[in-house]
Amino acid sequence: MQTDNARPPTVTPSMAHGVRVTPRLPDFAFHDGDVPEAWFDGDVGITAAWNGLSVIAGVGEALFVASGRWLLARIDDPAVADETARFMQQEAIHAAVHARLNKLLAARGLPVEETRRYVEDLLSEAERRGGHSVLMALGLAGEQAVGELAHAVLASPASMDGAAPAPRALYLWHWYEEVEHQAALHDGWTWVHGQGPDATALRALGAVYAVAILGAAWPATTWAMVPAGARGARWRLATWRPLARQMFGDDGLLSGAGRNLRSLLRADFHPFDMHDPAPVLERFRDAVVRAEWEVPAKEAKPHGPVETVVPRVGPRDAARAVGFMGWVLRRTARYLAAVA
Ligand SMILES: [Fe+2]
Ligand SMILES: [Fe+2]
Repeated sequence: MQTDNARPPTVTPSMAHGVRVTPRLPDFAFHDGDVPEAWFDGDVGITAAWNGLSVIAGVGEALFVASGRWLLARIDDPAVADETARFMQQEAIHAAVHARLNKLLAARGLPVEETRRYVEDLLSEAERRGGHSVLMALGLAGEQAVGELAHAVLASPASMDGAAPAPRALYLWHWYEEVEHQAALHDGWTWVHGQGPDATALRALGAVYAVAILGAAWPATTWAMVPAGARGARWRLATWRPLARQMFGDDGLLSGAGRNLRSLLRADFHPFDMHDPAPVLERFRDAVVRAEWEVPAKEAKPHGPVETVVPRVGPRDAARAVGFMGWVLRRTARYLAAVA
């Protein structure tokens, strides 16, 4: 997009909602005593799902930061660039703080390294088959999915009531910031790609890749994160019933996923169409984040206008996406065999 020096400063959708993306570094620490093995309500299945997500988050966040960096080199507007940089900073800190919990999980013998490699492989294969633009669009869809999960948790905070205080604080802070920056990647991406038919098709293709990855990786990592001493529980339906209720029951955390997916295929989609972030942030600010965690935002230098050609999605891309789904299943089978 071209800039015009006489143009008034951009008001991003986040700014228009009174939302300022604010990097924070909380002092969370995770010790054996604070994090019981089944830290989520004594429930093996739910704990395994949130532990799996903690490892997936670290890999996903590396992609979000890389996406932000790529966009930043193409964003010629100070306000959009600043918000993108703040988003990247938040995501980098999320990964670093989740790594503290993941370290404890690894020390307990959970397959953290194996899981990280598996999820990294899924992303590199997506890029190998789909190309860099598809990887970025997949990151965009992933970010939207995480943001919606964050909204769902904060809409019913009682869903986290059973969690031990340390991991509960980690997730609530993380979800708070996901809501705070939910539009940032979308707005940076849209600034660079626009909202034309090619951009919409690319976003849709990214969503297909994201669904293929999350649909396989979250269940598989959940399975893998069942502790060695409770492996027999993997085969009992009772292990998974509470998790199924938490995710898919009435008001389940994933019950809005279909609507989210359908909405994001619209050309003029914006994350704030789904939820207004302001009242959520207002409601949780005092309980979930602290002013003393705030760290200075890194300065973002907007670049000159860079012409970005949005690749046109065609039947070959659809065929590649189908091929990718098959590959995901094969890689997932290898992962599950390795963590059996
Ligand atoms: Fe995050
Ligand atoms: Fe995020």
